[in-house]
Amino acid sequence: MSKLVLQARQLTKVFSSPSGPLEVLRGVDLEVAAGVSVSIRGASGSGKTTLLQLLGGLDVPDRGKVEVLDGDVMVSPARRLGKAQGFVFQNYQLMPELNALENVALAAKIAGKSDAQARQAAEELLQQVGLAERRTHLPAKLSGGECQRVALARALVNQPALLLADEPTGNLDERTAEEVMQLLLSLVAARGLALVLVTHSVEFASRTQQRYVLSGGVLVPA
Ligand SMILES: Nc1ncnc2c1ncn2[C@@H]1O[C@H](COP(=O)(O)OP(=O)(O)OP(=O)(O)O)[C@@H](O)[C@H]1O
Ligand SMILES: [Mg+2]
Repeated sequence: MSKLVLQARQLTKVFSSPSGPLEVLRGVDLEVAAGVSVSIRGASGSGKTTLLQLLGGLDVPDRGKVEVLDGDVMVSPARRLGKAQGFVFQNYQLMPELNALENVALAAKIAGKSDAQARQAAEELLQQVGLAERRTHLPAKLSGGECQRVALARALVNQPALLLADEPTGNLDERTAEEVMQLLLSLVAARGLALVLVTHSVEFASRTQQRYVLSGGVLVPA
């Protein structure tokens, strides 16, 4: 079996709510091997975003453990934010005061590249997502599909081995969603990345190699 890039064991997450503790995740296990694409579907409120945030190290579980590959060893994802794992969110999460190029370059700078290296890496990525001509535009001057292409470039600029995408086409019309999903899947395949894709679309999920549904706080093979 090929090398794992992500391993989650027995993740639980409980939120407090006015009606008492809300146990959103009840022991989620997930292993993702290098280069493998995985989709997660599930009803609204089933905990998909909560799970993805734990997998990416943006939040911590109450119990259980997440590890991502860092070179040859597995480490906590919080230590590898933006490097071992890239993120794409439903609402793009671009910095409104930075143009497309600056948004992508910022991620590279945070990861330790010099200004010149970051700019060059950002230029290359924007080219690959078909936005070279729009690189000086602010997010407000870009369409939703273009914003998500910028976000995809940002997620890939530090050459992660794993892409985590939370309903990346959820805010887009059907045709744009198809274009963005095709681009995302083709970049993932071309770079041999592992992918965890949260989506409501059965059709998009069918294009991933392993499919799960999050139900009752655990992952069930779909
Ligand atoms: N920080 C928080 N504090 C309290 N409750 C939370 C918090 N974050 C999420 N929840 C609750 O946890 C549950 C799961 O939320 P989550 O956003 O993970 O669902 P989801 O599957 O991503 O839904 P959607 O498909 O609508 O995006 C929901 O009931 C939500 O209200
Ligand atoms: Mg969600």
